[in-house]
Amino acid sequence: MKNIVLIGMMGCGKTTCANLLHEKLGRPVVDTDALIVEREGRSISDIFAAEGEPYFRDLETAVAKELSEPRELIIATGGGLPLREENTAALRQGGVVFWLKRDPAATFASESMDGRPLAQDGQDAFVKRFEQRTPIYAAAADHIIEDFSSPENTVNAILNCLN
Ligand code: S3P
Repeated sequence: MKNIVLIGMMGCGKTTCANLLHEKLGRPVVDTDALIVEREGRSISDIFAAEGEPYFRDLETAVAKELSEPRELIIATGGGLPLREENTAALRQGGVVFWLKRDPAATFASESMDGRPLAQDGQDAFVKRFEQRTPIYAAAADHIIEDFSSPENTVNAILNCLN
């Protein structure tokens, strides 16, 4: 059975929804950021500061390619993973991709952006980044999820698409 792949901006709820889906479906969760942190033995912020974004993106591409098989996983991705088309292509081979399209201003206002190096320039820059990425997320997604009234409702929307 195919993987469930969650994409979307930083703080949109990918990790929370992945964990809720795990509770409901019992499938294992893989978090691409967590995998990178574990392998590198340092935080995302430290990787960006010491090596720069392209180095991080190469790690992300390696992880995406490792996750191309359908293994009934729930995959929470880093917000920038779809920026490389090859990453999306790999994940789509074995998975159904859900874009959690949460309003960026609401996301920025309510979620902590600590440890997120690309979200340190304020709300306007965050919203602009969302707008720049919108066509990329849209092209990557099989389904777009827009119910963020509660994590439970978001997950139910994902499950409805699957059924
Ligand atoms: C990024 C999102 C982060 C992390 C890195 C870059 C991005 O993941 O991969 O800081 O470019 O949107 P989250 O979406 O889990 O915050």
